[in-house]
Formats: sequence, structure tokens, C-alpha cells
Amino acid sequence: MTQSKVWLVTGASKGLGLATVRHALALGFRVAATSRDAVRLKAEVGVADYVFLPLEVTLTDEASIALAVRQTKERFGSIDVLVNNAGYAVLGAMEEMSDADVRKNFDINVFGVMNMMRGVLPVMREQGRGHIINIASISGSLGMASTAIWRDRRTVN
Ligand SMILES: NC(=O)c1ccc[n+]([C@@H]2O[C@H](COP(=O)([O-])OP(=O)(O)OC[C@H]3O[C@@H](n4cnc5c(N)ncnc54)[C@H](OP(=O)(O)O)[C@@H]3O)[C@@H](O)[C@H]2O)c1
Repeated sequence: MTQSKVWLVTGASKGLGLATVRHALALGFRVAATSRDAVRLKAEVGVADYVFLPLEVTLTDEASIALAVRQTKERFGSIDVLVNNAGYAVLGAMEEMSDADVRKNFDINVFGVMNMMRGVLPVMREQGRGHIINIASISGSLGMASTAIWRDRRTVN
């Protein structure tokens, strides 16, 4: 029997990430998923170990990602789909955001995505196949810029 494809989803303990995990499992795929809290993730998903692997991963730490990739490969034998979902927006006007706020946001939304791709791509290249879906974006920060402009215009007019 052909083994089902393997998905790896980041930021999966809630929201779109959790919904993606549940949907992929319901379609019969095997799923590895990352969270900052693997216990919560496991409780939220609540399915058998042979189809689901919860992983506690720090997206800013390449060693943590390498371990998660290795564990996924060992458990399921491949990684066919990577979904970079983890991310967040910081709300507020541009001048209310500190440099640290923005860098912290980019660490997850941008560099975290790149870290995951760097970790998973060697597996996909070796397999000769794979898909990467990037959901996280820098739009959180850009949104804040528009908010600032909109607020400024409202004040000026
Ligand atoms: N909802 C929207 O309208 C919208 C719009 C544009 C883009 N997006 C993007 O779509 C993705 C999913 O959104 P959502 O609405 O489902 O968001 P959500 O419910 O807040 O879930 C986001 C996930 O990202 C992870 N995450 C958040 N902050 C993190 C951090 N500092 N470090 C590591 N992981 C972190 C969390 O994973 P754990 O807690 O499991 O670690 C969480 O499960 C995000 O990347 C978001 O930026 C959403």
C-alpha cells in the first residue's frame, strides 16, 4: 500500500495552523506540526501517534528546526508539504512600534519562514519532490505603516 503524504505545519496550536492540521489528517495525510507548546498542541489535535507528531520548536533556532526535521523524517520517512503558518501581527501606529518590536516580528514572520525552508529543502531535494506553502508574511508590519498613514491623514484633514 502507498503511504500517505507527510505534511509539516508550523504554529499549529490554534487558528489557521490548527485547522490545517485537522483538515490534512481528515484527508488521510500524516502530519507533523510545530508549536511553542507541544503539550497544548497534542491536546488540541488529540489523534494517534502513528499519524500525528507534535513538535516543540523555536523558529528562531536552526538547531531546534533541524531536530524537528530529523524527527519527522525518522517517524514518517519523508516531508512532502511544508506549511509555514506561524506568525503574528503587531498592531499600532508606526511611531508606536519600537525597533525591537519590528525585529521580533520579522524574526518569526520572515526569518522563521526562511529557517524552516532551509531546514526542510534538503529533504525535499533528496526526495526530488515537495511543496512549500508560505502563509506568514510581513503584512503585519506593513499594515502598521498604513495604519500610521491613515491616522496621520485623519489628523491633518
Ligand atoms: N487571521 C488573519 O486575518 C491573517 C491575515 C494575514 C496573515 N495572517 C497570517 O496567517 C497565519 C495564521 O494566522 P491565524 O489568524 O491563524 O493566527 P493565530 O490564531 O494567532 O495563530 C498563529 C500561530 O502562529 C504561532 N505564533 C504566533 N506568534 C508566534 C511567535 N512569537 N513565535 C512562534 N510562533 C508564533 C502560534 O503558534 P504556537 O502558539 O502553536 O506556537 C499560533 O498558533 C499567521 O502567520 C498570520 O500572520 C493571518
